[in-house]
Amino acid sequence: MGRLNVNLCGIPLDNPVIPASGTFGYGYEFAELYDINILGTFSFKGTTREPRFGNPTPRIAECPSGMLNSVGLQNPGVEKVISEELPRLKQVFRKPVMANVSGFSVEDYAYTCALLDREPQVGWLEVNISCPNVHGGGMSFGTDPASAAEVVRAVKRVTAKPVLIKLSPNVTDIAAIARACEEAGADGISLINTLLGMRIDLRSRRPVLANTVGGLSGPAVFPVALRMVWQVSQAVHIPVVGMGGVRTAEDVIEMMLAGASAVEVGAENLVNPLACRDIIRSLPEVMDRYGIASLDEIIGGV
Ligand code: SIN
Repeated sequence: MGRLNVNLCGIPLDNPVIPASGTFGYGYEFAELYDINILGTFSFKGTTREPRFGNPTPRIAECPSGMLNSVGLQNPGVEKVISEELPRLKQVFRKPVMANVSGFSVEDYAYTCALLDREPQVGWLEVNISCPNVHGGGMSFGTDPASAAEVVRAVKRVTAKPVLIKLSPNVTDIAAIARACEEAGADGISLINTLLGMRIDLRSRRPVLANTVGGLSGPAVFPVALRMVWQVSQAVHIPVVGMGGVRTAEDVIEMMLAGASAVEVGAENLVNPLACRDIIRSLPEVMDRYGIASLDEIIGGV
């Protein structure tokens, strides 16, 4: 095994670096900038049963050390993802991809996962029960252990692929939700999604975002994410994928020491489209600096 290799729910990764859903599209724009096959994998744009236009604009607000988004799960719907996006992705990405799935009901999640389960390119299902930008679904499933477990059970019934559940940080007891997901059969947990936030335009005295509130991501959230990754890793026995404000190889190593088996990079892709490539390139040198022989052996080593 190479020194960057890790394993995520039984599937080997060349390295733990994974662009996060919503920051990497379906991959092919980034494939024009570098060979995206150097990635561990990537999580594609959150996909729902029906096509979605998303929320009204403005949907983005800049903040010191981060950004707010209220995109609202814009995507072409699962059928188009399968008929158009996956064939296009196959031309540029030869590894198993992570399919990110959102829904507005338990049935929605199961329907979308059942269709994606048949796709050989899909390695993992990352089930997002934590989108803060939609009403009547999304985060409402991820803030209650019983509802989270219901989604997990419904999805597990329709797929043989590993299921990672993406959790919201907008809760008081993240460990309780993670445990409920594990008990319901989840194969892994990914966290954190964005933190609910808001900005006001002083001239208009109106919220900057048309949706009033949105999700905060970027370096500002890194310590919160790290704390929650550590808490969840202590609470469950299944693999954890850490994300939230990761920008550098050092951040990846911190996340892994906190307990992450792999690490997603989100907002940084929007600042520097080469961020994941740069992190992968610099990992060996940073590992040497801190006396790390292989990444696999530092997971949970804090
Ligand atoms: C969005 O599309 O609103 C972002 C997705 C998410 O935060 O889960």
